Amino acid sequence: MVKTSNKLVVFGQGYVGLPLAVAASQVGFKVTGIDINLDKVLEISKGISPIEDISSGQLADLINSGNYKITSELGISPDSNLICICVPTPLDKNHKPDLTALKQAVRAAGKGLKPGMLVIVESTISPGTTRKMLLPILVDASGLSAEEFHLAYSPERIDPLNKEWNIENTPKLVAGLTNQAANLAREFYSKFIDQVVICPTVEVAETAKLLENSYRLVNISFINELSMFCQKMGIDINEVVKAAATKPYGFMPFYPSVGVGGHCIPVDPIYLSEAAKSAGAGSRFIDLADEINQAMPSYFVERAKQIIGGVKGKKILVIGLSYKPNVADVRESPVISLIEQLRKAGAEVSWHDELVKRWNGQESTPISAGFDLAIIATPHDYLELSALKYVPILNTRSSI
Ligand SMILES: NC(=O)c1ccc[n+]([C@@H]2O[C@H](COP(=O)([O-])OP(=O)(O)OC[C@H]3O[C@@H](n4cnc5c(N)ncnc54)[C@H](O)[C@@H]3O)[C@@H](O)[C@H]2O)c1
Repeated sequence: MVKTSNKLVVFGQGYVGLPLAVAASQVGFKVTGIDINLDKVLEISKGISPIEDISSGQLADLINSGNYKITSELGISPDSNLICICVPTPLDKNHKPDLTALKQAVRAAGKGLKPGMLVIVESTISPGTTRKMLLPILVDASGLSAEEFHLAYSPERIDPLNKEWNIENTPKLVAGLTNQAANLAREFYSKFIDQVVICPTVEVAETAKLLENSYRLVNISFINELSMFCQKMGIDINEVVKAAATKPYGFMPFYPSVGVGGHCIPVDPIYLSEAAKSAGAGSRFIDLADEINQAMPSYFVERAKQIIGGVKGKKILVIGLSYKPNVADVRESPVISLIEQLRKAGAEVSWHDELVKRWNGQESTPISAGFDLAIIATPHDYLELSALKYVPILNTRSSI
């Protein structure tokens, strides 16, 4: 069997690729991170971490040890044996899967591919993408036959800022186009991940990832719909969830919000529903959940109007801009839609988020008593609301 060497190249140094590069370099791999974002490359090469889960000290130590370096050059050193692809797979402006970055990175990887190398794709993709789209790109770009290299798929499950579940103790799915590719991928991840689970096919692994995040979208949208009902009934949704969660089996708690955000939960289910449509199968749960999710900001605009008798000309402070508490990530944040819709309705909107600090040319506004309404959108732990004094509060995380 071909052995995995200790030279690894990781395309994409974001929320997924950087922790992977760090974990592998900590167990002795010589890792080259590749990213096309020049600002990010500069920042990371100075030992400054752009993400919450990796400390700058950790990064600087790995750079100084010689085990980690970052570059914007897309070339692969010929003595590398392992390539991981962790680039974004977002939606385009028509709300459809956008594989541009993935195809670019895979083509660049293909150009440096040598016989015996293992390529592992971690980006979230639709079933069939590894086999039908990425394998042909690698064959075409490398000039090798499919038998001369190894291709595996391994979805990432990272949950930024989760203190309990991290890259080491979260079980990792892997699948290969051949048994050998799957075994090589397992051998690699087993060096720094406690439990590696081989799936029977790459399509199973690709679909499992989409199932996990679609499950969250469907359930979060369900709780948000229930929360709207509870609000009309004067019932506290959080007390309802707390009561139901005392059942020791068959129930998992989800909580109300202004909607889902980030690079995964609003995006991945659309990959599944588009794949279902192409296959002539239904995806009604996902489509309805997506519809409810996208309607949440406008629901809260209506609630705001009810509380202060219309929002036109009113000064509103939206508190928490990122998509989830305690992170600075604003990708797909539903709070952005909330702000846009409030402004469209004529409100004078400011936002406060000391983690995000700057967004869209605007600065975070301090919390103060000078507003007609405060909307708690994303409740970061650091928030101190006493400065609001008597400003009415609309809490999107509650039904009362
Ligand atoms: N963020 C999460 O929590 C999470 C969890 C599980 C899976 N995923 C999946 O992992 C993948 C990456 O997500 P992410 O959150 O790390 O994205 P990210 O935006 O944080 O990082 C991706 C990085 O890839 C770089 N990039 C783009 N095109 C490139 C190219 N052609 N070559 C090299 N670098 C390139 C970008 O500049 C960026 O820095 C996506 O498919 C996502 O769905 C994300």
